[in-house]
Amino acid sequence: MKDKIVKLLSDKIEQLNEESISALLEQPPKKEMGDYAFPCFRLAKDLHKAPPLIAADIAESIEKPEYIDDIKVMGAYINFYVNKSDYAKTVIESSIDDSYGASKEGEGKTICIDYSSPNVAKNFHVGHLRTTVIGNSLYKIYSKLGYNVERINHLGDWGTQFGKLIVAYKNWGSEEAVKEKGIEELMRLYVLFHDEADKNPELQDEARAWFHKMETGDEEALQIWKWFFDISLEEFKRTYKLMGMEFDHYTGESFYRDKTDDVVKELTDKGLLKDSEGAKIVDLEEYDMAPCLILKNDGSSIYATRDIAAVEYRKKTYNFTKCLYVTGQEQKLHFAQVFKVMELLGNDWAKDSLVHIPYGLVSLAGEKLSTRGGNVIYAEDILKEAIGKIREIIDVKNPDLSDEEKENASRIVGVGAVIFNDLYNQRIKDVSFKWEHITSFEGETGPYVQYTYARCSSILRNIEGFEPSADIDYSVLSDEASADLLKEIDRFPAIVAEAAERYEPSVVARYAVDLAQAFNRFYTENRIAVDDEVVKKARCTITYIVRRMLKDSLDLLGIGVVERM
Ligand code: ARG
Repeated sequence: MKDKIVKLLSDKIEQLNEESISALLEQPPKKEMGDYAFPCFRLAKDLHKAPPLIAADIAESIEKPEYIDDIKVMGAYINFYVNKSDYAKTVIESSIDDSYGASKEGEGKTICIDYSSPNVAKNFHVGHLRTTVIGNSLYKIYSKLGYNVERINHLGDWGTQFGKLIVAYKNWGSEEAVKEKGIEELMRLYVLFHDEADKNPELQDEARAWFHKMETGDEEALQIWKWFFDISLEEFKRTYKLMGMEFDHYTGESFYRDKTDDVVKELTDKGLLKDSEGAKIVDLEEYDMAPCLILKNDGSSIYATRDIAAVEYRKKTYNFTKCLYVTGQEQKLHFAQVFKVMELLGNDWAKDSLVHIPYGLVSLAGEKLSTRGGNVIYAEDILKEAIGKIREIIDVKNPDLSDEEKENASRIVGVGAVIFNDLYNQRIKDVSFKWEHITSFEGETGPYVQYTYARCSSILRNIEGFEPSADIDYSVLSDEASADLLKEIDRFPAIVAEAAERYEPSVVARYAVDLAQAFNRFYTENRIAVDDEVVKKARCTITYIVRRMLKDSLDLLGIGVVERM
């Protein structure tokens, strides 16, 4: 319907193309203002006329088509009142298709998303949970728009910290303890190293020597490192599995260790590398940035060097149109430096193609979360706790489910609850973590949306012989609650596009709640299993569409659904 109105307007407005008209066309906040409103402010400059006059002129010139009941001018706006059954027909005909919301925008284009990327020998914490769910959701959103997406896990698996870990392991560790406790033991050793090194600074030299051995391919050093790597990856994968998430590439920092020499050479050849107290840097003063450190004074590469190598590798291997980096805000400068260096190397595409996507902190204010040792919080433990809490609720709400069903539902709803809480607010804002809110079946939560999905499923299960089709009587969908619901359905494609454009999964999360709320109002006002077959069919069709769209919306967030909960 929106497209039809855009077309109607674009025939009368020479100054704007269809795309700009579509971007300007609003859905008014109040019903009295109609279904769509077009503001004429933008045209005032071109036409040298007051916006209300422009609105009046355009409205006058439009010949009212049969699907429009009325066109009114209100101030600088042209308001369109769409014929309710025509509107219902247009919306249902497009949304009944499974591919509703998808597009071909990204056909033939690749987007790399660098996200999650926890650090080997360190725990997968709540911060990594955020990059994981945001990155995964962006992957789903871009895939829906037809892009090929490469999901890249840039593990923190290289650097001087591994030299320290090897020293600590050799001095105070044991094979059994590492085997038994995994990352927890590696973290203990790492902390111990720092305590001991305070007393005995020579340990730092030993650590540097071990990292140097790693960089020069020493067998023993690499063997220990690889062992720590395997243990860590296995733990990380356990968390991903719990969340139902996968990656296309586990290419962490170590993957680039044989590619940093080329970076240094290229920077040197192009005259960008400068000496600074024995280290090598790229001076970025001209761009108001601290210098980008490339080689430390002992000649070893660092985080930024490996990131530069990674951009080059990815551009060569995937020929991306965009490469997105989802990390906390504290890495803003790091990425600004890396992107600038890429530009200085003569890559014109770097400016628009490399995008840092920062996010806020998770604030655990006052909440009790289970910890394994020290005060370290593991993402896995949070997810498990959520699953346990949902299980208690399901046991009460739906005691008749089989044990297997309960277990499955608790996992999907529990994990979904945590993900949803993470994605509901704008990503740049801090997320607050309140168990009571997260696991609630009411309000703006994951369980609420999933529950609405299960409700749609249950409604349709109980209707015999229902076959979805757009061949229904649209005039029976003209009541207010139905009309409101249709409007929500209508918004979906624009929502997906907006979420992609702004790298903002919260747009989808909020939409999912709006859609669920609109459906629940519709359901309160309208009985579905009525005797009148014509009415029943129309209402079932809407329920069928909403059910699938709730599932699709949750899927875009990386959240599953269950038929009963
Ligand atoms: N391992 C890093 C961390 O935990 C994140 C890596 C982000 N990706 C990148 N290409 N630098 O903070």
